[in-house]
Amino acid sequence: MKEGEWKRYTEILKKRTLAAPSILAGDFGRLADSAKRAEEKGADFIHVDVMDGHFVPNITFGPDVVKALRQAVAIPLDVHLMISRPDIYAARFIEAGADIVTVHKESEHDIEKTLSDIQDMGAEPGVVLNPDTDISAVTDVLDKCRMVLVMSVFPGFGGQSFIPDVLKKVEKLKALREKNKWDYWIEIDGGINAETSKLAFSSGVDVIVAGTYVFKNKNIRSAINTLKREKVEKQDA
Ligand code: DX5
Ligand code: ZN
Repeated sequence: MKEGEWKRYTEILKKRTLAAPSILAGDFGRLADSAKRAEEKGADFIHVDVMDGHFVPNITFGPDVVKALRQAVAIPLDVHLMISRPDIYAARFIEAGADIVTVHKESEHDIEKTLSDIQDMGAEPGVVLNPDTDISAVTDVLDKCRMVLVMSVFPGFGGQSFIPDVLKKVEKLKALREKNKWDYWIEIDGGINAETSKLAFSSGVDVIVAGTYVFKNKNIRSAINTLKREKVEKQDA
């Protein structure tokens, strides 16, 4: 992501949360069409769930799919790597067009090095925490993150139930960011719907991922709009 684009989204974030529909719940026979539809209906980012069948018990997309999505939409691709060796594969996803690349603390790698490699390759680096991983496991790398993704389900599958307990981590991440003047965005992923997105918003989330709620919804535009939660009261003209 270009610095100007990053700043533009940071400005938007002063007013509302960002909506990142997860293509995992799109039509696998027509992924590009699903991504385009989400973009047309107001998505800020397309969230891409990459699973390797090893780090999680499911297999989804490789870099070529990211490349096809890159050609289909203009909005940033937020690529969530649920893979054992993000240090080896991050480059391939960045070459394919990933704008934001988030990597799990629980994967097998030197996370500090992976994050700085992602940044050197021109993408926004982020760290992901499973529901049972504490913030203390990543505090030493938070200054290198442009995104911190708090998983609100155990990764691997769409359509699971939201784990409210993780909201404490969102609040803590927000407090830490203010205290240390860090600049990451806080993202939540898993089991998001109208109700849980409201809870996430109240805890201080910036970017809201939703798969099932968006793509299995009869009204995709209104579902995406629900994820864009206003932070300030609108002034009457
Ligand atoms: C879970 C994925 C999520 C998932 C969310 O492993 O990281 O992004 O697609 O799906 P829903 O919104 O259906 O819970
Ligand atoms: Zn995800």
